[in-house]
Amino acid sequence: MLRLEPMSRPEFQASVERAIPRHAGDSARRGRWTEAAALEASQREFAELLPQGFDTPAFHFCTVVNDADGAGVGETWYRVQEKGGKLHFWVDWIWIDPPFRRRGYASEVLLLLAGRAASLGADRIGLSVADDNASAKALYAKLGFKPWSAQLMKELPPVAASSTRANPKPK
Ligand SMILES: CC(C)(COP(=O)(O)OP(=O)(O)OC[C@H]1O[C@@H](n2cnc3c(N)ncnc32)[C@H](O)[C@@H]1OP(=O)(O)O)[C@@H](O)C(=O)NCCC(=O)NCCS
Repeated sequence: MLRLEPMSRPEFQASVERAIPRHAGDSARRGRWTEAAALEASQREFAELLPQGFDTPAFHFCTVVNDADGAGVGETWYRVQEKGGKLHFWVDWIWIDPPFRRRGYASEVLLLLAGRAASLGADRIGLSVADDNASAKALYAKLGFKPWSAQLMKELPPVAASSTRANPKPK
């Protein structure tokens, strides 16, 4: 059995400090940012997401704890917001520490979150996932999450610098 324990301020800080370089690395690997600019872009994106850090309204930051021995096995961030007459429950992040994966822990966390969402009055629970994250996609599909909107991307062939608008050819 698992439980979700609210993070302390230092635990949250440590969680963000892990998240920023991880997100930078993932985004550079996916070609979204250059390696050189990724860390700064990630720092900026987290500052936009969490303008008041730990105190950002609507956000909840939890450690996933194994009830049997009290050990932390992962973490999750979620937010709860009223909009359009509905309560929106959004999972921003779920992470299970590598030694504890494939034991059903993420599934249990998502069921706990779904229960929390339902008890608050939400009629659905949402999250986003990168298309190349096969393990997370398999997890969500198994739990009944269905695609609801998609961001599409097409990679473009490189263009010689001299033919771009930013570098017009001198006449
Ligand atoms: C994705 C993640 C949260 C899954 O955690 P987990 O505790 O191992 O997941 P579960 O044990 O509950 O897995 C449930 C099901 O999900 C699927 N699944 C999970 N990991 C998988 C993997 N590596 N490959 C294929 N399917 C996988 C399987 O269907 C699995 O059921 P099964 O073990 O009976 O086959 C974990 O791998 C993780 O923390 N990854 C890094 C962070 C991340 O990507 N988070 C999601 C961001 S959107």
